[in-house]
Amino acid sequence: MSAVIDAPVAKEPPLVRGLPLLGNTLQMAKDPTRFFVDCYREYGPVSRVKILGKEYVLISGIEAATFMGTREGKDCLRSKEFWEGLVNEYGAKRVLTGEDGESHKQLRDVMRHGYSKESIKGRYNELVSITDGCFERDWPVGTSVNVLPAMQYMVVDQLGTILTGAAPLEYVADIRTAILYILNVLVTRQRPKILLQRPEYKKAKARVVELGNNMINDWLARYRRDGEKPADQKNLIDNIMEAHVNQPDVMPASDLVVTITGPYVAGLDTVANTTAAITYTVLKHPEVKRRVLEEVDALFADGEISEDHLLQRIPALQGAIMETMRLYPIAVAQMRTANKDFVFAGHQIREGQMLYVGTSVPHFMEECYPDPFTFDIDRYTKERAEHMKPGAYSPYGRGPHTCLGKSLAEIQIALSMARLFYKMDLELDPPGYELKTKTAPTPGPATSFKVRVKGYRH
Ligand code: HEM
Repeated sequence: MSAVIDAPVAKEPPLVRGLPLLGNTLQMAKDPTRFFVDCYREYGPVSRVKILGKEYVLISGIEAATFMGTREGKDCLRSKEFWEGLVNEYGAKRVLTGEDGESHKQLRDVMRHGYSKESIKGRYNELVSITDGCFERDWPVGTSVNVLPAMQYMVVDQLGTILTGAAPLEYVADIRTAILYILNVLVTRQRPKILLQRPEYKKAKARVVELGNNMINDWLARYRRDGEKPADQKNLIDNIMEAHVNQPDVMPASDLVVTITGPYVAGLDTVANTTAAITYTVLKHPEVKRRVLEEVDALFADGEISEDHLLQRIPALQGAIMETMRLYPIAVAQMRTANKDFVFAGHQIREGQMLYVGTSVPHFMEECYPDPFTFDIDRYTKERAEHMKPGAYSPYGRGPHTCLGKSLAEIQIALSMARLFYKMDLELDPPGYELKTKTAPTPGPATSFKVRVKGYRH
């Protein structure tokens, strides 16, 4: 049966109980994952929720996750409205995340190679040495390190060098602030627009624009001097800028700043929150830690690492990464607008209706993952493969907007964590620490989460 289930009479989705004026705003602010799972349990795959005075339809569960990837899903859902605020704020015409159909495909084609795993082929050892440099700089022996900010610096160092050729560490704080406002005010609209008048945001935005303009001008100067690079040396910035030079209708000047700084917006908080969460889960589970250490010691035993089948050579660490991304998803739901009237699971959804698609709800369902709240890194072995059930596992989203940096992020995360546990002797601080989480702008460990650096293992 198709995900869009025709019912004889399509019903209005049930309204989720909430407070008189606030609706479900507080439940969302406190723990959106839990709130969406509870809605699914009590109301089924379709319901209506009220956040900050606006009504959204929530579709979730396996039905919704698989629906995203079907032709019907592509026809029925669009992304435009949620990214319009960002497009307007930066004076652009379009951004990758906010386009649909052919226009979206055109932009994805421009950036596909630059964002892919191929873009770091032959550079794994370089990534390792960038990562080692971050540990030397930000993780001094004998200190307690705030993991999330340390990971944010590491990600900008890695992505900057690999994807763009330079690591703009002096812009990390501004990128972080800009992301906070972009996501909270412009995309998810959990905060009022008036906040964009704050000097803190205005300064951060100006600095991000300055970073973008510097990247554009540096590229143009080099291009005028040396011409096109050989194909095997091109990075994401070359892909974007060459599209601008050769097809200005596809990549007009107005769209350059927001596109060229895109990898930081897309990669910084996602990878930093995920790697911080993995640091916690591995240190929290001694048996997992033991298996991971054994594996990473073997991985780096010969100094240089070989790139072949990297992820398959570290199954315990890969299991820990996947399990952490199941339990601490950074994208709890995807936000969309109904592109036309349609019926989902017997409920009528109208054109223009704003929707949350709760793709991470199945991560917490007993039907997909027995004992779903237990951290179990062996769920992903060939024999069990619990994540392979259709619709069960979506940390990188679903459908046409599925994370374009997924294969790159997988390598980046695996190498960073392998190197962290290989190099550093760490413990939670305090040792029995129970993770506190935050929800905005990206769900993940609270900034107060710390580890103590006891020494170097290697
Ligand atoms: C933990 C790591 C990451 C996770 C969990 C993650 C997750 C996601 C999710 C869920 C989406 C879909 C959003 C939607 O449908 O509305 C997405 C989109 C995207 N991600 Fe990632 N991401 C990660 C890392 C990265 C990195 C490192 C990059 C690149 C440097 C990247 C680049 C992108 C891009 C360009 C898109 C937009 C795709 C499109 O709209 O077609 N991501 N990501």
